Amino acid sequence: MLVRKLLVAGNWKMNGSIQSASSLASGLLSAIRDGIGYDVVVFPPFVHLPMVAHRLQGSHLQWGGQNVSAHSKGAFTSEISAGMLKELGCQWVLAGHSECRHYGQESNELVAKKFAQALGQGLMPVLCVGETYEQRESAETEAIIWSQIDAVLTEVGVAGLGQGVIAYEPVWAIGTGLTATAEQAQEVHQFIRSHLAVKDDIIARRMRLLYGGSCNGSNAEALFSMPDVDGGLIGGASLTVEDFMAVCQKADKLSKGE
Ligand code: PGA
Repeated sequence: MLVRKLLVAGNWKMNGSIQSASSLASGLLSAIRDGIGYDVVVFPPFVHLPMVAHRLQGSHLQWGGQNVSAHSKGAFTSEISAGMLKELGCQWVLAGHSECRHYGQESNELVAKKFAQALGQGLMPVLCVGETYEQRESAETEAIIWSQIDAVLTEVGVAGLGQGVIAYEPVWAIGTGLTATAEQAQEVHQFIRSHLAVKDDIIARRMRLLYGGSCNGSNAEALFSMPDVDGGLIGGASLTVEDFMAVCQKADKLSKGE
């Protein structure tokens, strides 16, 4: 049986200052001991990355960028390349977060190009997918999610996709306090995994599928206990050591089989 290590990822979004990000990173470092059975990644704002990288360097905690350019270099004012992230010791990057899809009008095709750029630098992209409330109501959830994944498959193939992680983040659950039930999450995760299995069964079984959307210490255990949920992408509950640790403790418990 293939065992998928749980992954708890903190998406700090556009929050904090150099000082607060520094104490958050240091706090996590002392709260999360070495030798844990799950992975932890944080996604600070770009400008806090050098400081976070400095704090976490050589530790068991990993970090990444919240977005990446679809281009490798050149006249793309305001953009950050995968190579620049790599230089800061990032191992991870988010691709296609719903806020970037929405506010930045990032299309499926653009997100796929970003995913490819990340792979080109050896970064692990977290492909974020998810439906809006209206799309769920009109039974379009699976079609929307598959079109978001399919664009990446077209760009990098199933082997490329398999080098990253997929985060299912229903748009209606992000930052709203409305969480998908563990069963709703499992249903979509199972859909994703079974559709990937048609392309490549081993990759589908190995690939980690995270849940995101108002995930916190109170619902993480139920969500992470689902057979196809391999951790979470945490926004609001990743901004304090206490809240993030409440989620990590559930991952710790489950990773020990308790
Ligand atoms: P949330 O955000 O936990 O605040 O809902 C999750 C995300 O957007 O990654």
